[in-house]
Amino acid sequence: LLISFVLFARTVTVGTSADFPPFEYIENGQFVGFDMDLMREIAKIAGFELKFVDMSFDSLIPALRAGQIDVAAAAMTITEERKKVVDFSMPYWSADQSIIVKADSDFTITVLFGKYRIGVQTGTTGDLWCTENLVQKGLLPERNLKRYDTFILALSDLLNGNIDAIVLDSPVANRFAATKPVKVVGIIVTGEQYGIAVRKGNKELLDKINQALKTLIETGKINELIDKYF
Ligand code: ARG
Repeated sequence: LLISFVLFARTVTVGTSADFPPFEYIENGQFVGFDMDLMREIAKIAGFELKFVDMSFDSLIPALRAGQIDVAAAAMTITEERKKVVDFSMPYWSADQSIIVKADSDFTITVLFGKYRIGVQTGTTGDLWCTENLVQKGLLPERNLKRYDTFILALSDLLNGNIDAIVLDSPVANRFAATKPVKVVGIIVTGEQYGIAVRKGNKELLDKINQALKTLIETGKINELIDKYF
């Protein structure tokens, strides 16, 4: 029994939404990005094998709960709502929300809310912020808030002129501004922190992840990943 346990290292299935550079994206058919490498380093320390699965962001928590994935590593903000249904690791990143528009557009943050069309990724904190602070306050008609499965789709709609702005996490907005014809026109200070999510009560896996995160921070290994992706 012991031998088979040692030989067959457990495979941990990691769900992500690979549309979010520099945290998770696909390059040459490979899962790359800060979160992906962070999970690879955690797996090395904790001694498990990894399998990555790509899905829409709003499917991650249901997939975790259904046991289809063991971990969600997706620049996921630790929120009170989510903490009711999944458990989070210690925080590993901080972010706010940013508003991006096409680089050649003269939209400013003041005219955006109202008759303009704003894109978000379904179920993200950007979606939540726009829903609570714009739609529910009557500042933006519901039909003008466009929800997308992925930021890849939202970006192409922005570039095609089908929407006027996207609200998304600040580090990713900055990355898009550096690599695509878009610019950041505003920041919404939300003070979010990212955590790695596991199924509620999966203490064994969560402890391993937290222990490995600590090691990566203490040894400075995490700085190599930061240098690589930021
Ligand atoms: N941090 C935001 C949230 O938790 C957005 C995360 C989106 N992640 C992704 N891989 N697309 O809602």
